[in-house]
Amino acid sequence: MRIRQHVNPLRADFLEIPLEPLALPAGRPVEVELGSAEAQFLLERAAEEPGRSYVGVEIRRELVQQANRRCRQMGVGQVQSVFANISVDLPRLFSPGSVSRFFVNFPDPWFKHRQRKRRVVGEELVGQLVLLLAVDGEICVATDIFDIALDAMGALEQAGGLRNLREPWSFLRQSRFAARSRRERHCEELGIKIWRLAYRRTPT
Ligand SMILES: C[S@@+](CC[C@H](N)C(=O)[O-])C[C@H]1O[C@@H](n2cnc3c(N)ncnc32)[C@H](O)[C@@H]1O
Repeated sequence: MRIRQHVNPLRADFLEIPLEPLALPAGRPVEVELGSAEAQFLLERAAEEPGRSYVGVEIRRELVQQANRRCRQMGVGQVQSVFANISVDLPRLFSPGSVSRFFVNFPDPWFKHRQRKRRVVGEELVGQLVLLLAVDGEICVATDIFDIALDAMGALEQAGGLRNLREPWSFLRQSRFAARSRRERHCEELGIKIWRLAYRRTPT
């Protein structure tokens, strides 16, 4: 099956995706990967910390179907992927204060100047994530593109309500998790530098 490499998240039909309701058991921390592709990272997170729920938000429907099929076949019930658009759907998927951790692993770069507005990590997204985070919840970003890392750092440092887990305006030295996304593993195998950021919600 051919799956498109990039889709424009601002395309009209991606602004009104009919959402499937999420089934999240009460009392378990919820971790969410934004742009989860085939959910490799979440499968590995579930193996690392099984007592949590994991949700992948992905705009390519075929990848969502593929990921959910794979989780079913592997008998991994706590990982689910949902066909949705990070840019508009997060408040419809999660209630305020309900998410323990957001991961943004290797977001699409959109290098061309006229396409920059399609980049997902910016002021608006970070503002939304802060509202959805539980007390002590975290936002973790990884990318191999320095320009994206700087954009994300600017938005995260200036959002308010977040504390950089290393120190202000600093990158982490290494991942705090054993899980790896597909792109992350590829970069590590080729020795490509990865820029990592982690922030924790501060008490209001
Ligand atoms: C470069 S891939 C990285 C995939 C995976 N996180 C990894 O690290 O291997 C970026 C993913 O984000 C998804 N994506 C991009 N914009 C999105 C949006 N607005 N809403 C949901 N998913 C999006 C893409 O379809 C793609 O699967």
